[in-house]
Amino acid sequence: MKLIQTPREMLAQARIWREQGLTIGLVPTMGWFHEGHLSLMRDALNRANRVVVSLFVNPIQFGPSEDLAAYPRDLERDRKLAAAEGVHVLYAPEAAAMYPQGFQTSIRVADLSCGLCGPSRPGHFDGVCTVVMKLFQQTRPHFSIFGEKDFQQLAVIRRMSRDLDLDIEIIGHPIVREADGLAMSSRNIYLKGQERQQALSLVRTIDYARQRVAEAAQPLVVRDLLAELGSRLVHEPGCRVDYVAIIDETTLRPAETVNPSCRLLLAVKINDRVRLIDNAPLGGWNETAI
Ligand code: PAJ
Repeated sequence: MKLIQTPREMLAQARIWREQGLTIGLVPTMGWFHEGHLSLMRDALNRANRVVVSLFVNPIQFGPSEDLAAYPRDLERDRKLAAAEGVHVLYAPEAAAMYPQGFQTSIRVADLSCGLCGPSRPGHFDGVCTVVMKLFQQTRPHFSIFGEKDFQQLAVIRRMSRDLDLDIEIIGHPIVREADGLAMSSRNIYLKGQERQQALSLVRTIDYARQRVAEAAQPLVVRDLLAELGSRLVHEPGCRVDYVAIIDETTLRPAETVNPSCRLLLAVKINDRVRLIDNAPLGGWNETAI
């Protein structure tokens, strides 16, 4: 596996592969790899001749009170993990090369960035779109893989790709979970002591909602189900709800009754310290299933 650390060298490599007619897959990450990241890499390796994994803790997607400085970083550790998967290039540019003096361009996907995580993370999705667009330009991929763990991010990137005619296939990858159901995340290392147990409130809520939907004899009214989930979550110790939403998977707009294209998305803060997100399809009542 080659380590590339400058945009210029990355682009030169991508051009050579393109000239050779090779298919390039990109997996963008911020590092501190876990099974979720590795699973995306394997997916990409199964689809492409050459796989680039980018590792860049993108400063412009962090708010002023967020964890940019504390975000876990270990290039050597990540390098070994990516190499063991058979990744061809680990692309880890410096912040100064990504955002040189005078940088002032931003990409904004207006509507899809507004709701859900938008209000508590102003500017976050603009930062994500801008860096992902730069990574696309530098690595020239035919496709790029993103996890459903960050469901709003995936929807925003799909929209950007369509709106800007990028000719890059955006592929969603299912959420990878710990044995007890906690969605894997680099931020899980912030969970101390009993917080790790408290974090299971997210997956407990998802399981409960899916069970309610599966057992319902007719379509559930979203407002009622959300009220039920909310009143269960207030009894979860150390858990403050940022949002619980049931939305249409494509538009991210709130649904009225639970149907097969609905997804439950939630964000909570554990001990007012660690912000976690999770989501799952709700399946839902449809006539053919009866
Ligand atoms: P990061 O949080 O490192 O995640 C990198 C990719 O891994 C994202 O597509 C994310 O959705 C996916 N991922 C994380 N945990 C996962 C899990 N448990 N199961 C499946 N996929 C998972 O997301 C980012 O970085 C950044 O915003 C980025 C897109 C790289 C732009 O800076």
